[in-house]
Amino acid sequence: MPNSVIPLAEAPKLYETENDITARRRVELIALLNQRLASAVDLQLQMKQAHWNVKGPSFIGLHELFDQVDEAVESYVDLIAERIVKLGGIAEGTVRVAAARSRLAEYPLNIAEGMEHVEAVARALSTFGRQARQTINEANALDDADTADLFTEVSRGTDKWLWFVEAHSQAKK
Ligand SMILES: [Fe+2]
Repeated sequence: MPNSVIPLAEAPKLYETENDITARRRVELIALLNQRLASAVDLQLQMKQAHWNVKGPSFIGLHELFDQVDEAVESYVDLIAERIVKLGGIAEGTVRVAAARSRLAEYPLNIAEGMEHVEAVARALSTFGRQARQTINEANALDDADTADLFTEVSRGTDKWLWFVEAHSQAKK
């Protein structure tokens, strides 16, 4: 399959479950969650990209901070993927699927200086945070308070990390 076009809801296989959310609802929720999983996998690797390549006088602080963000995002990836499986779906979380479906902008490969990475990481967190916030409303519209709660946790965490990262640039005059 060409890696540019993988349809979002290509008749996902649904496992039998006693979960009382209707199959129709679960299919919609699984498609929604799989899209967000793609963005989360992409975000996690972008945080590692920043962790590995940042340079400059703030190296150690940023290197360690970006690794902490990576670990937090890894936990969001796990929460999202396992919610899909709890609903009877298949978590589609490979790098190739993530590359095709992620809604994040590509992370710049040619930057090094600390503030450039601060800006790029902040942009990625902000984009992902907006998606997470939208997902709270989308999950509520599908009557799934648990998925809404999951994304409330994810967006609250994303906002925290955005604060930690932007604190490096906000004191500039
Ligand atoms: Fe490392």
